[in-house]
Amino acid sequence: MAENNTENREPLVVVENLKTNFVTWKGVVKALDGVTFTIYKGETLGLVGETGCGKSVTSLSIMGLLPPTEGTIVDGKITFEGNELTKFVGKDVWIKEKGKKAKIKSKRRIYKKVQNYMNQFRGKYMAMIFQEPMTAINPVLSIGYQLTEPLLQHQKKELASRIFARQKITNEVFMDIKNAVLSENREKQKSFMDDPVQYSMLTQINSIYFRKDLTLLQKNELIDELIKEKPLSPFRLKFLEDYANDKNKFIYKLPIIKGYLLKPIYKEAERKAIELLRLVGIYDPETVIHEYPHELSGGMRQRVMIAMALSCDPKLLIADEPTTALDVTTQAQILDLMKDLKDRISASILFITHDLGVISDMADRVAVMYAGNIVEIGNKMDIFYNPKHPYTQGLLRSIPTEKTMKEKLHVIPGSIPNMINPPQGCRFHPRCEHAMEICSREKPPMKEVEKDHYVACWLY
Ligand SMILES: Nc1ncnc2c1ncn2[C@@H]1O[C@H](COP(=O)(O)OP(=O)(O)O)[C@@H](O)[C@H]1O
Ligand SMILES: [Mg+2]
Repeated sequence: MAENNTENREPLVVVENLKTNFVTWKGVVKALDGVTFTIYKGETLGLVGETGCGKSVTSLSIMGLLPPTEGTIVDGKITFEGNELTKFVGKDVWIKEKGKKAKIKSKRRIYKKVQNYMNQFRGKYMAMIFQEPMTAINPVLSIGYQLTEPLLQHQKKELASRIFARQKITNEVFMDIKNAVLSENREKQKSFMDDPVQYSMLTQINSIYFRKDLTLLQKNELIDELIKEKPLSPFRLKFLEDYANDKNKFIYKLPIIKGYLLKPIYKEAERKAIELLRLVGIYDPETVIHEYPHELSGGMRQRVMIAMALSCDPKLLIADEPTTALDVTTQAQILDLMKDLKDRISASILFITHDLGVISDMADRVAVMYAGNIVEIGNKMDIFYNPKHPYTQGLLRSIPTEKTMKEKLHVIPGSIPNMINPPQGCRFHPRCEHAMEICSREKPPMKEVEKDHYVACWLY
């Protein structure tokens, strides 16, 4: 578990003291009450808690997708690789108007400005998978269109690199990369990642090597075909290079350019879309790409949504209860897919679920949430075998096991509190069997009980 080594972990997302409110006609819902946690590069963080405890609100706050009129971040800070996502929170927003700086008055314009800012990160650097696939898929556009569109928007350079990789790479380098893949030599593979063209070739070979429907011999043949492609004219290659670097912008508007010179890019986008569909376990991607969402089953749609989220190689993937809406067998398949992806993509994953059982073999670390607070966070093993917070202990005792099947299952007494008037002090104290006098007065701070294991409880 090299990535669990605290010293050389690099943070990707840092959430500090996040407070998010909803204004409703009944009163202000204090959905998040000072949430603090970090997602490190390459790890999978599981976020668990009962329904209504604020898991979705946490993810929507990170993505900047809170419902615009009622939901607001009122305090705290979120940074993504050092960029502050909450830059405009609680501040007057300024724009350039008639050449001068002017304060934005209208709420709608602030909203637009914030959304424009967030769009730099969303899609390209952070992507999200929802519980219900139809919230992310457009019913009237073909799967192929929906997958290639973001690629053509954000991934021009990468698409061009993929073409150059097959057109320009020398036989020698190609064999080097191929051997590194076939021998599963990770160190060697890393050495190709700095050069975009070599990296592109590496991912293309990998995407064939990982296919489960082919024998090794067939894989070998397909890999070798990569560099036997018909060469493009130097003129076309030069054009693609300029296009990828956004030179000669005006030319692309001419229809003949689109039709002839950009054809390789469009074809490449389709090729990548097919690879993505294969990556998420769709067996016949060449057909599926021409289909519409209603022609697919629920599980297939979920896979397509995952492919869309992965299309631009995000650094952060948020999966908000990706299996809850599915039937049990499909659920297991999607979980298997997520586990498989975890090893094959480099993104950090925030995996949200109300089911502790689901994350037991997905997550590296686990954060437990209760009524808008993270009450415990630590490495998976510590949370499962040495839970400290009474709430975590209760959750673990309420997972059915062979032993408890015969007896009555443990339930945590009471229910999640009303978030308009939440209990004072520790929000869990009315349901806690260890509650002390201080618990109803003061909110417990996060305390490190063992290395990398934090708990917010007055018992410690
Ligand atoms: N649009 C909204 N308007 C008012 N309250 C909301 C809204 N969305 C969420 N909430 C409240 O925020 C709290 C956390 O909700 P949520 O994050 O969806 O929980 P979950 O952990 O099940 O994902 C709940 O009390 C919920 O009622
Ligand atoms: Mg939710």
